[in-house]
Amino acid sequence: MAMLMIEEKRDRKTGVCGLRRFLRSITLAVLFGSTVWAAQAETGSAGWLRYSRITDPSALQQYRSLPRQIVRADTSPVGQSASGELARGLRSMLGGEFRVSSALPDGDAFVLGTPQELHHLLPQWRGPDLAEEGFAVSKLNEHGHRLWIVAGGSQRGELYGVFHLLEQVAELHEIAPDAESPSAPIRWVNQWDNFDGSIERGYAGRSIFFEGGHVRGDLTRVSEYGRLLASVGLNGCTVNNVNSDLRTLQPEMLRELARIADALRPWGVRMSLSVDLSSPQAVGHLSTFDPLDPQVIAWWQQKTDEIYKLIPDFGGFVVKADSEGRLGPSHYRRNPAQAANVLAHALLPHHGVVLYRGFVYNQHLDWHDLKADRARAGYDNFRALDGKFEPNVVIQIKNGPIDFQVREPVSPLFAALQHTNQAIELQVTQEYTGQQRHMVFLVPMWKTALDTDMRAQNRSTPVKEIIEGKSFHRPLGGFVAVVNVGLDENWLHHPMAMANLYGYGKLAWDPDLTTDQIIDGWTRLTFGNNPKVVSTIDDLQRNSWHVYEEYTGPLGLGTLTDIIGIHYGPGIESAERNGWGQWIRADHQGIGMDRTVATGTGYIGQYPPELAKIYESLSTCPDELLLFMHHVPYNYVLHSGKTVIQHVYDSHYDGAAAAATYAPRWQTLHGLIDEERYQRTLALFEYQAGHAIVWRDAVSEWFLRMSGIADAAGRVGHYPDRIEAEAMQSDGYTPVEVTPWETASGGKAVTCNRATACTLTAKLNKPAGIYQIAVQYFDIHPGAAQYEVLLNGKGIAHWTADNTLPPAVADKTLDGHTSTRFTIPGVKLEPGDTLTLRGIPNRAEPAPVDYIEITKQ
Ligand code: GCU
Repeated sequence: MAMLMIEEKRDRKTGVCGLRRFLRSITLAVLFGSTVWAAQAETGSAGWLRYSRITDPSALQQYRSLPRQIVRADTSPVGQSASGELARGLRSMLGGEFRVSSALPDGDAFVLGTPQELHHLLPQWRGPDLAEEGFAVSKLNEHGHRLWIVAGGSQRGELYGVFHLLEQVAELHEIAPDAESPSAPIRWVNQWDNFDGSIERGYAGRSIFFEGGHVRGDLTRVSEYGRLLASVGLNGCTVNNVNSDLRTLQPEMLRELARIADALRPWGVRMSLSVDLSSPQAVGHLSTFDPLDPQVIAWWQQKTDEIYKLIPDFGGFVVKADSEGRLGPSHYRRNPAQAANVLAHALLPHHGVVLYRGFVYNQHLDWHDLKADRARAGYDNFRALDGKFEPNVVIQIKNGPIDFQVREPVSPLFAALQHTNQAIELQVTQEYTGQQRHMVFLVPMWKTALDTDMRAQNRSTPVKEIIEGKSFHRPLGGFVAVVNVGLDENWLHHPMAMANLYGYGKLAWDPDLTTDQIIDGWTRLTFGNNPKVVSTIDDLQRNSWHVYEEYTGPLGLGTLTDIIGIHYGPGIESAERNGWGQWIRADHQGIGMDRTVATGTGYIGQYPPELAKIYESLSTCPDELLLFMHHVPYNYVLHSGKTVIQHVYDSHYDGAAAAATYAPRWQTLHGLIDEERYQRTLALFEYQAGHAIVWRDAVSEWFLRMSGIADAAGRVGHYPDRIEAEAMQSDGYTPVEVTPWETASGGKAVTCNRATACTLTAKLNKPAGIYQIAVQYFDIHPGAAQYEVLLNGKGIAHWTADNTLPPAVADKTLDGHTSTRFTIPGVKLEPGDTLTLRGIPNRAEPAPVDYIEITKQ
């Protein structure tokens, strides 16, 4: 058994035993009666739109009476997508033919159309009043025939109705009459893609839109993306980085960009662009970009007209200005409203909108100034401008006041702008939450933000109702998410990460949906309706944000990652002593930002009084936001009864222990889902378990050193099962210091700086038994070093450090980003065994090793 487990592991890492694996999967598939899975190659490219064949006879029975004819009342591209999708989906799930025609047949049929079109075909049809993007599914008996009517307030609504209907079938629900409409008009995604094909904070390959300074020739993936977006009701896509390329508005680039808009249009997704406010100067060669200069105003007008000639359904502009080095109106002592309104005037006749980002702050704050606070910036910059924006301007506000941390309170700006349209900006791309190498289902986090009742005007004003425009009667508003899909076949790399894109669309459509409804729908569509599969995956996803928070940044401190770099692994002190303002203000006595009105930065005073009161007082401030709002000693006692320091230790151990359960829980599904996604996800879960330990140890060790207070459970700083690499007998390996120190055990590792192999050897004196051997090494991006573990001279495992890490991890350093664990389960040991680790360097990768840990199983 033990050796079989070792072999399995080797299969996954080296891929050399594919045939054996395939045969094994067939055996298991036959055993579990799911041959369909084994026969399909599953890359994940279909996302949740898999439309797998329904084979269960009783489930099929309820769809037997569905019509096989689809009547489309209109010929618009979106209407064609709707009818084509219905035929495609039903054909795929139910088998047989589904035909599309434009005239009513003499028989049962689905009939799609807007109310006007339907009245034309069926004068006696009486449908409900439909919102522009809403839909209604109803049944009608016509001369003895049954008609299934999918009415849309517009073609887009019709398309959403079709996707709704298909989702009902895929989840084996009865197709019942239904009517829905979206919560808010703005339901956009932002892609931070650069024209060179890279993606800022993208973790799933190169851009689907651009390569080499141009729009790609083949835009197939773009229309597939449009289809995915439309399937969850998303209607806008900003295709270029918010840090906008100055070439964006050049005539030749606009002509290229129009091709992207063409690819998205059939799915009702309007393209929009991020623009740089200095464009009148950079592109238009004017001497100024002062928004109030008449020439500048005229330039924006002409440029906008030029865009609409090429892209008649252009969505509008996204603006990042006066932020992180981008130029903006402050250059001319103008304010965001003055700048936004110039663009808004130009867009208004074309029904375009300006999404002006509230992410305006100074990244050169003085760390020594205890009153300085980046969290204040949104409110301080925009509050006084409330009511000064044109009706087609929307302020796009990140959910929290800092920057997509694992936990933040909601931005106080939501309640402060009562005469201004607002959209919440969320992040599907997991910049600070594991970069799609860790499973972190973000819907619970987003719901926490959306459900936060701001108590503006001392009444119920949850964030979701503010952005929907309900709380303050605003005409526009909604949702934006930074998504950053890439060319990776699976769009977001981690199969589980797709739940975030799906969930985002669902929440933007209806923020009252529960986390359970969302995850259950996604799992069924993505992995099928097998109850064990559904409950296992739902459970894994449901708690994953909490788990990630536990092993990264607790109590509202932020993610505790390397904040001035790539935002991935641990790098605690990077938050301090710089101008970026993501400070945690830790010293030997205590930790946390004092943001109180009484003694701190005054940030809490930016919330409406009822909410401010809760945060201001230590007795009412929730534990999970304590260190965001207050500075307290390490032995401060939380509402939970634990001290801050013990909570830090316990949560990190609990979180890492929970992450370690993912792989074994996933393994219970072997044979119940396809082998490709099974293996890919398993490898990621095993990686995550190892990296969660890196996080746990880095954060706990750092707190131990900082506070000087020991872990009451005796875990931190004591690793009896560990053998430090630098303490092993070495042939060729030399010790190196690791920075930051907390990202390597004992602050040190060893590297092999010769062309051939180096070895580390240790005599083990373990009592006889079965053990798990974990090797903690560093997978540095350039190169693929090899490692081999030998027991008494006989090889028991072998793997390649083959860059399973996010592409952004391009640093060549040994640190918390690159520290990786390889685990060999089921090894039989006897007292006196000799363990050898051979490292074979490759290119710039000197086969670095941190330690070996041998634990009893
Ligand atoms: C974060 C992110 C940047 C991005 C910025 C933004 O700071 O790290 O890459 O440009 O947010 O939202 O504008």
